[in-house]
Amino acid sequence: MLIINTIAELKKAVEDVKSEGKTIGFVPTMGALHDGHLSLIKRARLENDVVFVSIFVNPVQFNNQDDLIKYPRTLDSDVELIGDYADYAFAPSVEEIFPTPPTEEYHFGPVEEVMEGAARPGHFNGVGVIVRRLLDWVQPDKAYFGEKDYQQIAVIRELVRQCGIQSEIVPCPIVREPNGLAMSSRNRRLTPDQFETSANIYRILVESRKQGDVPQIKAFVEAEIAKISDFKLDYFEIADDKTLQTVHSLAEADGVMGFITVYVGEVRLIDNIRYK
Ligand code: PAF
Repeated sequence: MLIINTIAELKKAVEDVKSEGKTIGFVPTMGALHDGHLSLIKRARLENDVVFVSIFVNPVQFNNQDDLIKYPRTLDSDVELIGDYADYAFAPSVEEIFPTPPTEEYHFGPVEEVMEGAARPGHFNGVGVIVRRLLDWVQPDKAYFGEKDYQQIAVIRELVRQCGIQSEIVPCPIVREPNGLAMSSRNRRLTPDQFETSANIYRILVESRKQGDVPQIKAFVEAEIAKISDFKLDYFEIADDKTLQTVHSLAEADGVMGFITVYVGEVRLIDNIRYK
């Protein structure tokens, strides 16, 4: 795997690959890579001739400076984890990507106005800024995103639609720890006790499937989360899997999912589950 740090090197690598008529699979990441990322990279490996991974902690998608500062940065172990599967790792500096502060403004409509978009003002604009630039530079045939960040995928689909980007967006299933906790770079910030306690998030979501309709599911999840002293619920929403708008009964949409965000101490974890 070749590590590149500049946009010029990235564009040259893409040009070379394209001139050979090869397909490109792309996995954008913020590093602190784990087996969830690896599953995206392995899938990209299977479905494309050449695999690019970006490793960049994007400051403009953090609405909380403390979260940005504490976000784990583990480039050496990242490179070791993915070296056998990716061909290029693009690991630029902040100055390389943002020599001046970005001014792009996106409006993704209803899919960004709920849940993460409502809880983290500016977050999805920041995601749009970096993903648009990366897709423009890498021009992948396929770009891979994990379904833990389900709303992010909806926003990126809207970005791709609005900007006429040709890349196919490929959603990939959540990868979980043996205890059920959804893999996340933020899990590294949990203490061993918090890590074990956090397994309750998925347990509660799984049990919520047996509770009946939306009001019962909501009441169950909220009550179960409240029982755990380390947890503070940010939100739990039950929504249409396409529009991401709240539903009041499971019959209201063809696909319905639950979306949860919980603070475990000061670490913010998200997860989701499908009801139908
Ligand atoms: O999902 C992430 O890790 C980030 O939001 C992404 C897509 C790499 C953009 O910075």
